[in-house]
This record gives sequence, C-alpha cells and structure tokens, in this order.
Amino acid sequence: MQDLTATTVTETAIEQMATTQDPRLREVMASLVRHLHGFAREIRLTPDEWLKAIGFLTRVGQACSPTRQEFILLSDVLGLSALIDLMHDEAAEEIGTQSSLLGPFYRQDAPEIPLGGSLALNAKGPELLVYGTVTDNAGAAIPGALVQMWQTDAEGEYDLQTADAAIDMRANVRCDGRGQFHVRTLVPLGYSVPMDGPVGGLIRQQGRHGCRPAHIHFLIGAPGYRELVTALYLGDDPHIDSDTVFGVSNALVVTPRSDPEAPIQGMPAVRYDFRLGHARGEGSGRVGADPKQVLAAE
Ligand code: BEZ
Ligand code: FE
Repeated sequence: MQDLTATTVTETAIEQMATTQDPRLREVMASLVRHLHGFAREIRLTPDEWLKAIGFLTRVGQACSPTRQEFILLSDVLGLSALIDLMHDEAAEEIGTQSSLLGPFYRQDAPEIPLGGSLALNAKGPELLVYGTVTDNAGAAIPGALVQMWQTDAEGEYDLQTADAAIDMRANVRCDGRGQFHVRTLVPLGYSVPMDGPVGGLIRQQGRHGCRPAHIHFLIGAPGYRELVTALYLGDDPHIDSDTVFGVSNALVVTPRSDPEAPIQGMPAVRYDFRLGHARGEGSGRVGADPKQVLAAE
C-alpha cells in the first residue's frame, strides 16, 4: 500500500470509482473529483472553511420545498444555469430564438387561457398586451404551438412566493392556425431574487444588488421542435445591464409601445416573433423544473 499525498489522492479516488457501470456517470464523477481536488489545492481549503461550506449547502437543501428551489437559485446566481443554457444552444444543430433562464418559479399547473385572455386572475396593475407569431427558422408558422408564460405581479412577487401560492400571473395559450398568439398581462416589475435564504445571504456578502430586470418568461413547444425556454426583458429597467442571474441578451430586450397593429387596443403592446429550431433529440433545454417535480426528475 502506498501512502497518499495531497496530489496522489486525486487519481487514487478516481481509480476506485472506475468500476462505475454507467459510462457518463463515470466520466462526470472523475472530472468532478479532479476539479474539486484542484480547487481545494488551489485555494488551500481549510477544515473550518469546508465545514462552513457544508453548513451552507445543508441550509440550501433545507430551504427547498414544493414551492421553493434554493438549489436552482444557487445555480442561477453562480452563472452556472446561464452557462448550461449557452452550451445547450451551442450544441444544437438548429437553434431558434435566443434562450434564457427558466428560473425557480416555473410551475406545470398553469391554466390554459383562450387567445386574448389574461394572465392576471387577481393581480391588478397597468395592463400590457403581448403578441406575436411562433415560426420555424425559415419563417413558416407553427400552428397550435403552446406558449407558456409566467411573471411577477405588480408588487414584484411570483404566485409561488405568496402565502397560499394560488395560481396567478401565469397561463398557457395555444397559437391559432397561423401560429399567432396574443394575451393580456400586467407590466412586469423588476424584482429581487429571494434574499431571505442562504443564497440571499451569500449575495449580500458579495455586495451584489440581487435584482433582476423586469421580464416575462416563456416556454414554447410544439411536436417535432426543440423546446424554447426564454424571457423578454424590459429595456428601461435600471438593472438591464447587471442581471443577478445573467439571463439578459440584446435580442431579448423589448420596449412596450402604442401599436396600431396590435390585436387589442387601449394598452401598450409588445410584439415578439419566436422561432423554434427542429428537434434533433438533444434532450430538454430546461435548466430547472417546477419545484414539485425536481425530485421526480431523477
Ligand atoms: C426569475 O426569473 O424569476 C429568477 C431567475 C433566477 C433566480 C431567481 C429568479
Ligand atoms: Fe423571473
């Protein structure tokens, strides 16, 4: 038996894991061990610091519930979700509209509303019309594409953050035969990511503002097409250039305006035409899930 050193322990641990049957799991774990050990050596991680980190990760897990996903939030504020999104797009044979983060507030049980219906069930605030067309990359309409939308209410809160978590400010709408959709909603407010948990504590320690610019989330799908996870961001938000979770890109910035061509008049409108790439079996583009579904995803 050879005594281990701070260098040889890495390959020794990887060798012992070589019996892992699943080849992808074997590759992922070997790389994880190599990088984790390299990280610990580089910063000369101390026992006290590692124990603090374990306490932090324990609190992140304890903060998770069927309505809250603190681990997704952690992945988001570290820029890891944005990185995985960017790599997912790079790997696609055909991408459509630029993607953006799913975030921790998606839920599967939103109601389907008719064209022209409203996301606001109880919430009140200045109204906004969102409309557009869903097409493929060549501009051909995708009839019946399903557009899922969700956003904050006029106080800057998602329904999942309210006491009873009753559904509001989210809905699914089906495009018509020409791939067109239009829905009424409220002008979204920029807001702070949840700051009352361990991830919020980290953001404060880092001196970051913790805000996201005002946005509306979209998850758009149709059979045979790559699911699109994206969001539209309001260009006049003061945090448009410093999103805490790195979700904004220029192609997704919009400005509501009075629009004589909008299908409903009397409120500012945003028109956005979304493009879906054809599916080539590359798997889900969702970095995240309905908090209730995360454990089911194993
Ligand atoms: C959001 O878009 O709602 C969000 C995304 C990442 C972290 C927190 C919130
Ligand atoms: Fe959001």
